[in-house]
Amino acid sequence: MTRAKTTIPRLGEMKAKGEPIVMVTAYDYPSARAAERAEVDVVLVGDSGAQVVLGYDSTVQVTLDEMLTLARAVRRGIRHPLIVCDVPFGSTEISNEQAVATALRFVKEAGADAVKLEGGGPARLSRIRAVVDAGVPVVAHVGLTPQTAVALGGLRAQGRTAQSAARFVRKALAVQDAGAFAVVVEAVPSEVVAVALPLLHIPVIGIGAGPADGQVLVFHDLLGITEGRTAAFVKRFAAVGDAQVAGVAAYADEVRRGVFPAHEHQYSAGADAVEAARSALDAEAPPQD
Ligand code: KIV
Repeated sequence: MTRAKTTIPRLGEMKAKGEPIVMVTAYDYPSARAAERAEVDVVLVGDSGAQVVLGYDSTVQVTLDEMLTLARAVRRGIRHPLIVCDVPFGSTEISNEQAVATALRFVKEAGADAVKLEGGGPARLSRIRAVVDAGVPVVAHVGLTPQTAVALGGLRAQGRTAQSAARFVRKALAVQDAGAFAVVVEAVPSEVVAVALPLLHIPVIGIGAGPADGQVLVFHDLLGITEGRTAAFVKRFAAVGDAQVAGVAAYADEVRRGVFPAHEHQYSAGADAVEAARSALDAEAPPQD
């Protein structure tokens, strides 16, 4: 069967039929190709790339231009999954006009199918409406929103107190009403998410949010490339980080022992080419006294 490109209506159908939606992050051509070949439904060019690819301390430091560069590389590697690009901190906060201009850059310069906007407060809802009105589909993101983690008291689960759980439900419904076509829910207890799910007719993509219409994980986390501790909701499906280190170490060892390059890694030339090289060298040699 030929594989169809994921569309926004298709995601709605998947939700209706109870077919789990698979979303994964990607930040460059190789990660995009892995996502394409693994036949995921949605690729998110996440601002988590700030940390896992660019080495920043948090997502707030990444610039719009850096995100656009990552998004363009991902676009080149993707044919079938829907591409959603994370709008970085600082590129929508000033006004709705700024948010629309940023969203349009992702579509026109990077080939994004949609953008993702974090938060569900009044200003964010206004941005979602403005971007959707401008014709750019929006995925919302509520629960733990890393771009504003300082205001949330750090990178911690949301919805664990009565007040926080009520705030989460209000925001999830509000982003739906504002026109988002899907919502990412990060780090919220599954019991609290389950309360909101029947009221959400848009696909709910969870990360640390228990069963939902779909799941998203960070590429480097799920492949075991991320060093050190990861969030409790991460499952490692491979040990690519260890495999990378082992491969580079084996290469370094063979270079140091003179084992690499072996005969099969070298080009060969005929006797006439070698003779011509010698003659050229003789012609260049300074006259001997
Ligand atoms: O930036 C990102 O990777 C994300 C996911 C964690 C949803 O926003």
